[in-house]
Amino acid sequence: MTNSSICEIDGVKGNLYYRGYPIKQLAAKSSFLETVFLLIWGELPTQKELTEFEKEVQMHRRLSFRVRDMMKCFPASGHPMDALQSSAASLGLFYSRRVIDDPKYVYNAVIRLIAKIPTMVAGFQLIRKGHDPIQPRDDLSYSSNFLYMLTEREQDPLAARVFDKCLILHAEHSLNASTFSARVTASTLTDPYAVIASAVGTLAGPLHGGANEDVIAMLEEIGSPENAGAFLDDALTQKKKIMGFGHREYKVKDPRAEILQELAEELFARFGKDKMYDIAKSLESEAISRLGPKGIYPNVDFYSGLVYKKLGIPKDLFTPIFAISRVGGWLAHWREQLGANRIYRPSQIYTGSKNRDWLPLENR
Ligand code: SDX
Repeated sequence: MTNSSICEIDGVKGNLYYRGYPIKQLAAKSSFLETVFLLIWGELPTQKELTEFEKEVQMHRRLSFRVRDMMKCFPASGHPMDALQSSAASLGLFYSRRVIDDPKYVYNAVIRLIAKIPTMVAGFQLIRKGHDPIQPRDDLSYSSNFLYMLTEREQDPLAARVFDKCLILHAEHSLNASTFSARVTASTLTDPYAVIASAVGTLAGPLHGGANEDVIAMLEEIGSPENAGAFLDDALTQKKKIMGFGHREYKVKDPRAEILQELAEELFARFGKDKMYDIAKSLESEAISRLGPKGIYPNVDFYSGLVYKKLGIPKDLFTPIFAISRVGGWLAHWREQLGANRIYRPSQIYTGSKNRDWLPLENR
């Protein structure tokens, strides 16, 4: 059991708090960078602190040409999460002075990772299309700049605002698998770039951050709202997991799914509806009738893909975007782990054979 003061989840009532603030309030009123500041340093920033933090992040968005050239050597067919894990880890080569007990080093590492991860995700997207990555624009906000670097054009302010809220919603979720990886790696006192690379690799799995990409593939396979029931019966008969449903903590609908559904509807009202939304709502209703009694409801990954799809983001970038956001939570846990560190060494129950003697090959 680990103590933490960063995030609280009430899985029965479906409530989520970052440092004591309800997620609904943060999603409605905060910004991603303000939320990251809150998660990492424990308090909402003053105007002076926020302005300074935003300025520092803006100044560190660019990547060394070496990182860009390295990404150009990655196969274009590779998954963007593998590209992100490799490029995030490579930062350790550029900032090799490891003084993790120096608050200035910790602050600089936080700034670099929050600032550069989006540039890496957008950069690989352009590179795999055969384009040169474009430089960040200092006149754009964090989310507007990411969407600009990704699409090579400035996005509608509504799109940037909705995207920023998505980043708030995905930023932190207590001791989920990737955050646990971050804490275990942090507990060895390795560098923060290795901590983040370890967490990125964990997040990529389909049972964790990779589910958002699979939800869209599932909705495409279902094809129409009328098919949702039959699809579910078939999947459940085969003991398949329904992507975007279920959660170890929540026994009701994930509060983040509620907010993401509202954001999706806001985008549909402005930019036109996506027929997949009707399929998703039909699937949700059919799934709840079958799985609700077991406490299985939509989780954060069920509606996030529909928001990103409406923003024109390719499916295999949904999880890298989850990572852009969750770097805030991982860094908060990195700092917290360093504050009272003891290397993780979980105990085990040995279930293997005992007291055996080695046998020569001819006797086996
Ligand atoms: C994230 O931990 C976090 O906080 C993660 C996260 C975060 O913000 O970091 O919230 C992000 O990872 C969200 C989850 C995304 N993954 C998916 O949507 C994949 C589908 N979901 C399942 O794989 C599952 O619900 C998990 C992995 C999310 C949770 O798994 P648990 O708690 O280990 O539950 P389980 O696999 O032990 O299942 C318990 C029962 C089983 O039935 P029985 O064998 O007891 O009869 O519930 C069933 C499962 O078959 N079940 C499902 C199901 N999820 C659980 N059945 C069908 N579809 C599902 N999605």
